Amino acid sequence: MRYFFFICFLLVITVVATAGLRGSKSRKPPLEIFPDMVRQLKVKEQASSIFFPDGRASRMPVAGTVCWEEPVENPYFSTGIIGDQWGEGIPIEVSVNTLKKGKEKFEIYCSACHGLAGYGNGIATHFNLLGVPNYHQDYIRQIPDGQLFYIISYGQGMMLGYGSSLSLEERWAIVAYIRALQRSQNVLFDALPDEKKRLFKEANP
Ligand code: HEC
Repeated sequence: MRYFFFICFLLVITVVATAGLRGSKSRKPPLEIFPDMVRQLKVKEQASSIFFPDGRASRMPVAGTVCWEEPVENPYFSTGIIGDQWGEGIPIEVSVNTLKKGKEKFEIYCSACHGLAGYGNGIATHFNLLGVPNYHQDYIRQIPDGQLFYIISYGQGMMLGYGSSLSLEERWAIVAYIRALQRSQNVLFDALPDEKKRLFKEANP
């Protein structure tokens, strides 16, 4: 009986290994038992096609195509880059409403990993997501605004980009909100408004 299981096990391994083999270099067409999606009816960029009368596979957008991201005058607004460097500053008006918008979007798109206050302790980290940085570290406080914008747009390392889900304004609003979160956890006493200084002194005589 023991041998029976062992032989079955070997048999399964052999069948799976042979059938799933993607092949090695050869001039003959491979025998594919699991072809997956290796061959599809599609055209690659710059290829020709007999489908269109002019023989080109790449097509211009059809007439009336709507551009869903407005072309912008200020390239910093859409790239985060000025010249060949990360830019500093937030190129939209930063009002209470901007911060509210940033908070709303941050809580939807970022907090699951980064945590509501940016400590890198979002719910996903309780399920073994490793490597989410805490925003309240000097090196992240020093990342230029433009680079934060870029990271939100295109991602970094293990993190995906959110450029396809968030408009340019929303991304800048999140940058502003991250700055507010960072200030909320790291502000010098002298930079506090008088009212807060008074409250602090009252609480810490
Ligand atoms: C699915 C989890 C997840 C989500 C959602 C997420 N992040 Fe991240 N984020 C990460 C991880 C993991 C890293 C570390 C990436 C690396 O360096 O490999 C990271 C890195 C970063 C960094 C770079 C810090 C550094 O070390 O340079 C910034 C800034 C950042 N995230 C901001 C955001 C913002 C803003 C959002 C929402 C728009 C967001 N993240 C959404 C997981 C996430």
